[in-house]
Amino acid sequence: MTNRNLRPKGNLVIDIEDVTKRYQMGEEIVQALRGVNLQIYRNEYVAIMGPSGSGKSTMMNMLGCLDTPTSGRYEFSGKSVSAMSDDELASIRNKEIGFVFQSFNLLPRSDSLHNVELPLIYAGISSDDRKVKAKDALGKVGLADRAGHKPNELSGGQRQRVAIARALVNNPSIILADEPTGALDTKTGEEIMEIFENLYDQGNTIIVVTHEEDVARHARRIVRLRDGLIESDKLVDEDVLAKQKQPA
Ligand SMILES: Nc1ncnc2c1ncn2[C@@H]1O[C@H](COP(=O)(O)OP(=O)(O)O)[C@@H](O)[C@H]1O
Ligand SMILES: [Mg+2]
Repeated sequence: MTNRNLRPKGNLVIDIEDVTKRYQMGEEIVQALRGVNLQIYRNEYVAIMGPSGSGKSTMMNMLGCLDTPTSGRYEFSGKSVSAMSDDELASIRNKEIGFVFQSFNLLPRSDSLHNVELPLIYAGISSDDRKVKAKDALGKVGLADRAGHKPNELSGGQRQRVAIARALVNNPSIILADEPTGALDTKTGEEIMEIFENLYDQGNTIIVVTHEEDVARHARRIVRLRDGLIESDKLVDEDVLAKQKQPA
């Protein structure tokens, strides 16, 4: 990532100002986010971290337009999400956001090609165009030769790569990954993080929600949540420098 001061406002993808999220649990009110400010620009690679209960999933749902804030302002590519209807939220999710989940969320009876085509079907793209785009996306994750395989004919790492191809296929503004290596062994997880690295190099904007330092280490910026607030927001280089400065 380059000098933040040089980044034009037009490259702002995520603009969150003083966002809160409250859940009502019977009598009890849970304040999951308590006034969060976050700006993410095009072609950033951000990890969102924090202990269990700190608000990561709530934040992910908010960023992914799966949920709206209780209060505060959220603009996605200059569009106000806070005021969107469910239909508008669904449309922005389909067109602008590529989701990657811990458990892959593939259709078990469909082959890789069809799984990757799904967002394009919802977007109303013609069958021929879909096939071309889906094959291209499978190629980007190194699975051009697995288009006809169903999830149970693939390894865990390959399944997650199909899910990443599906996330990519619509050419989204952001790729939002929730614990993407959580169901994988360490080595396979590293392979998946390498794919994110390549996608970042190609200009994609990536947000990874994780509680694993090893996963976050791949990002260029780490945002740490605690008790519904941003505790720190640092470029990774700054983190490394800070560590080096500590006496051994
Ligand atoms: N749907 C919900 N209803 C009520 N409370 C919730 C709901 N989702 C999350 N919470 C509460 O909000 C807080 C933050 O949760 P969450 O965002 O899931 O944290 P994390 O993903 O970091 O573990 C927790 O105290 C949790 O119990
Ligand atoms: Mg969570």
